[in-house]
Amino acid sequence: MCPKNSPSLDAAYSLETPQDSVRLYADWADTYDSNFAQSSDYILPAQVAHHFAVSGGNGPILDVGAGTGLCAVELAKYNVGPIDATDISPDMLEIARTKSLYHALIVADLTKSLPIPDATYCGIVSSGTFTNGHVGPDAFDELVRITRPGGLLVLSINAQHFAAAGFEAKLAGLSTQISDLTLTAVRFYGPNSTGPHKDDTGFLATFRRAPD
Ligand SMILES: C[S@@+](CC[C@H](N)C(=O)[O-])C[C@H]1O[C@@H](n2cnc3c(N)ncnc32)[C@H](O)[C@@H]1O
Repeated sequence: MCPKNSPSLDAAYSLETPQDSVRLYADWADTYDSNFAQSSDYILPAQVAHHFAVSGGNGPILDVGAGTGLCAVELAKYNVGPIDATDISPDMLEIARTKSLYHALIVADLTKSLPIPDATYCGIVSSGTFTNGHVGPDAFDELVRITRPGGLLVLSINAQHFAAAGFEAKLAGLSTQISDLTLTAVRFYGPNSTGPHKDDTGFLATFRRAPD
């Protein structure tokens, strides 16, 4: 038996496959909120929720890579919903379930077809999932498919991952299917963060599915 590395952002950034994510987040789920989010002053879910609300987003909403539900905690402050969650990690979704903020919890892999009908959601949010070692831009095809025409998507993308994984080209390729694209630069961690990732940044990609 090999010794296990303890879960951490560095371990998460070095993942290579979706199954790596399932394993890492199974180990991390119980301590993610306290040992990671609170202790690192993780403000990204709040930024995504705020941006979604002030951009006029409304439900039904899907939180993509929802994890333990930190985005839903923030969306609840704006009284928008109902909110469904999807994530590849059943263990993270079990923690989310305890917060009683989501309607449906959907275990699914964003690198594959999603078990969700076309044009289901008026809003899609995502915080921290389009990042190193996680999910790349090809997942956008499925997200656009399950969004209703005119629906709003607010998706965080880590800056290094944005450049390395081809997000700019993907968004350009979707130009006939989406509208109103903006990229807003954001910090992922607040002023109380310390450590090597405290200055990590990225973008909130905000766009609508083009009307039919
Ligand atoms: C850094 S966590 C972010 C969780 C939450 N949105 C937040 O901001 O706290 C990344 C999440 O992406 C999920 N994830 C990673 N790869 C995935 C995939 N291929 N499909 C769906 N979810 C995935 C992980 O299970 C994890 O819950």
